[in-house]
Amino acid sequence: MKGTPTAEKLTYRCESCGHTSSRWMGFCPQCRSSEGLVETTVRPHRVAPSIDVVSADAPPKTINGRAPTGLGEFDRVLGGGMVPGVTVLVGGAPGIGKSTLLLHAADRFASSTGPVLIATAEESARQVQLRAHRVGVRTGQVLIASVADVDDIVAIAAARKPAAVIVDSIQTVSSTGSSGAAGGVVQVRDCAARLIAFAKNSDTPVIIVGHVTKDGSIAGPRTLEHMVDVVLYLEGESDAGLRFLRSVKNRYGAVHEVGVFDMTPDGLVEVPDPSGLLVGLRDDTAPGSVLFPAIEGRRPVVVEVQALVVGSNASQPRRSVTGLLPSRVHQILGILTRHARIPLAGQEVYLSVMGGVRISEPAADLPVALAVASAFHDVALGRVAAWGELGLTGDVRPAPRPLVRTAEIERISAGPILCPETGFKRLDRALAATGLASG
Ligand code: TYD
Ligand code: MG
Repeated sequence: MKGTPTAEKLTYRCESCGHTSSRWMGFCPQCRSSEGLVETTVRPHRVAPSIDVVSADAPPKTINGRAPTGLGEFDRVLGGGMVPGVTVLVGGAPGIGKSTLLLHAADRFASSTGPVLIATAEESARQVQLRAHRVGVRTGQVLIASVADVDDIVAIAAARKPAAVIVDSIQTVSSTGSSGAAGGVVQVRDCAARLIAFAKNSDTPVIIVGHVTKDGSIAGPRTLEHMVDVVLYLEGESDAGLRFLRSVKNRYGAVHEVGVFDMTPDGLVEVPDPSGLLVGLRDDTAPGSVLFPAIEGRRPVVVEVQALVVGSNASQPRRSVTGLLPSRVHQILGILTRHARIPLAGQEVYLSVMGGVRISEPAADLPVALAVASAFHDVALGRVAAWGELGLTGDVRPAPRPLVRTAEIERISAGPILCPETGFKRLDRALAATGLASG
């Protein structure tokens, strides 16, 4: 297909020297080539395209305007605060606390920077007001609009010019110009694109809430993750307890940052020292408890691993695991039976990481083994901390970042530390050092 006649021009061109002519000739008048001229269409050059051309080493304009929200644990995962025009996706399971978190962030940001608009398609304005009152929003600068059409959201935002916009949630907004039902792939993508365009054009930070389905993806498309600048996930194990806000993508900061909050009746409370909180609640005289300096994102968090071992007549005694990988725990129980001669076949075993923390590091193997042995022998280990991956032969392997883990244990005045780096390269040696060796 040809373009519009005015946009393109027909010319004749010599294949050897590039000479052009407005009419066809059987030879080239310039280079005398006897290959006739060839018909070509020439698109006129566009003049003054409206695209900014910038120097690569000029400081990026947007980073300069980073504004902290004032909610420290939120700012930590954002990379220091919100950049003009940034788009942030906050994902998490329904009921985990996304709306509550963003209400706190909105309140803090509003008090320092200006009004924040919460566009909620999920709840009535009254419902959000009730929650706002409960969690102590007092600035008078958090504006709520109960609205479901993305064009209405953009229109309200354009008129009010808030310092930031929060859209809760992307699955419940829809666009009249888009096909399918709200929450469907096409709607979610089109609405997100509309909000992102608004953010970029107006330099307004936009935070988009996305519910995560059971299979772990943000309902609708994963493409949402590719569209926004920052992707954060809010996670936690139990109804009450700790919430971890993790950055899995950040165009303006480091990823794998983790912010920690505690869900209380008065809303989410920041936990700048999670180790102190988790270990402060602990009874140092109870058997079956060992400290593990975990690495959460980029920071160390000392967690308490608890075990309970109870005799059982059942042919398959119960194993219950919270916050750890069950397959890993079964392996550790096998290693304890074989290499520490602890007869676990006739015992129910319960294992839990306290505070709703979820641990997947293999480095938790040794503390898990020590906690089970401590529970079985009914011997308390005080403030013993441990790490190391257990091999099937009863060997203990080093874990990443031993210095960071050691420093955190020392900071909260815990120890001694049993790990390969301090000479405990076999499970039986670690058990013997704590007086738990049997047989
Ligand atoms: P919410 O922020 O509505 O979760 P999401 O937006 O991710 O769906 O919080 C849901 C839960 O948090 C709710 O079940 C009750 C609990 N909660 C508290 O424990 N304390 C509070 O102050 C608030 C507001 C909620
Ligand atoms: Mg919500």
